Amino acid sequence: MKSKILKFPKNFLWGSATAAHQVEGNNKNSDWWEFEKKKGNIENNEVSGIAVDHYNRYEQDFDIARSLNHNIHRFSIEWARIEPEEGKFDKSKIEHYRKVIQALKERKMKVVLTLFHFTLPNWFAKKGGWENIKAVEFFLRYVEYVVKELGNEVDFWVTINEPLVYSSQSYLLGNFPPKVKSIFRFFKVVNTLITVHKESYLLIHKYFDNAKVCFSKNIPFFEPYRKEIFLDRVSAKLADYIVNDYFISKTSQYIDFFGLQYYVHSRVKFKLGGSYFNLGEEVGIETSENAIVTEMGWEIYPDGIYHALKKLQKYKLPIIITENGIADKRDEHRADFVRDHLINVHKAIQEGVDVRGYLYWSLMDNFEWIFGRRPRFGLVEIDYEKDLERRVRKSALYFSKICKNNAVDLK
Ligand code: BGC
Repeated sequence: MKSKILKFPKNFLWGSATAAHQVEGNNKNSDWWEFEKKKGNIENNEVSGIAVDHYNRYEQDFDIARSLNHNIHRFSIEWARIEPEEGKFDKSKIEHYRKVIQALKERKMKVVLTLFHFTLPNWFAKKGGWENIKAVEFFLRYVEYVVKELGNEVDFWVTINEPLVYSSQSYLLGNFPPKVKSIFRFFKVVNTLITVHKESYLLIHKYFDNAKVCFSKNIPFFEPYRKEIFLDRVSAKLADYIVNDYFISKTSQYIDFFGLQYYVHSRVKFKLGGSYFNLGEEVGIETSENAIVTEMGWEIYPDGIYHALKKLQKYKLPIIITENGIADKRDEHRADFVRDHLINVHKAIQEGVDVRGYLYWSLMDNFEWIFGRRPRFGLVEIDYEKDLERRVRKSALYFSKICKNNAVDLK
């Protein structure tokens, strides 16, 4: 049988992503470092500790990424390292990140730099974090420092990673620090993050006219649990508006491209007295029969990435998929997962959506926030028993062929 080949556009970007706290290790001045110490906050009371020691082993890790034909890499820099005490910037940490960027450039990989990926300096958190009246000012001071130091080297900027995941986990569901459960405080933080993004965008552009700036946005695909029930349909629309549209509608004039992240599909059921969020919790993980569920309890639902891309099409901006991935320790589903999501990406491209790149989450296994080390997202396996040895998974080799050929071969 003749195999069908899905070609991707010329100069398509292929790579993977990481975040500082999840991989670097010893992020001692951050709010998460404190948070992890308290029993019950993290599954099995694990702590990030040395994480996967990427802070010291980044060259080795980038060698692997390069050998897997990646031509772009996304990572975050750690505000808590760069400004460990209020107003005191640690030059040696900026020098570290300069070397990290150089290491990517030497390997001919484009650089996507995230400024805020869920973790905060402890001093800032202690002052009330995003609820502090001077929060935006504090963040912009850090951004300006980074832009002046590293701005020349960055290809793509991500101001905030998943503002809605962050604010809902931290201020509504009470899972991430500061473990607040309040709809008012949640909305207040969301609105602050809107300002944070806009101001950061303007600041980066003040120094670099041609900068390419976005926030990265998780876009779950919401469907009514029972299509025939009007209130389920309304609830799904409301969820879609709050989680997906609200932030974008306030910021779409302040982005040069979209950073899309796609993981979940959620079936939303109306429940009296409940907010969409606890509905989401109740039924979001409800799966259709025979569905394959990942180590996160998420149903694999590749069509959702197509819907997310189509949703963004109306903005007529380029899109980079800054995260998409699966937790699958035994590597049973990862290759199919990547293939099936890319089939949907390709379909959207055929329909005119301007997708410029696909970054798998994550380059290697890492510290998965409140779930600790259990969920394994990596293209590269980490052996926690054997000095954090790196082992390239089979699916990583499958993905590397796609990167090399700029195409998915459907045998
Ligand atoms: C986050 C990552 C996280 C991944 C898997 C994304 O929302 O940006 O930090 O590891 O999801 O849960």
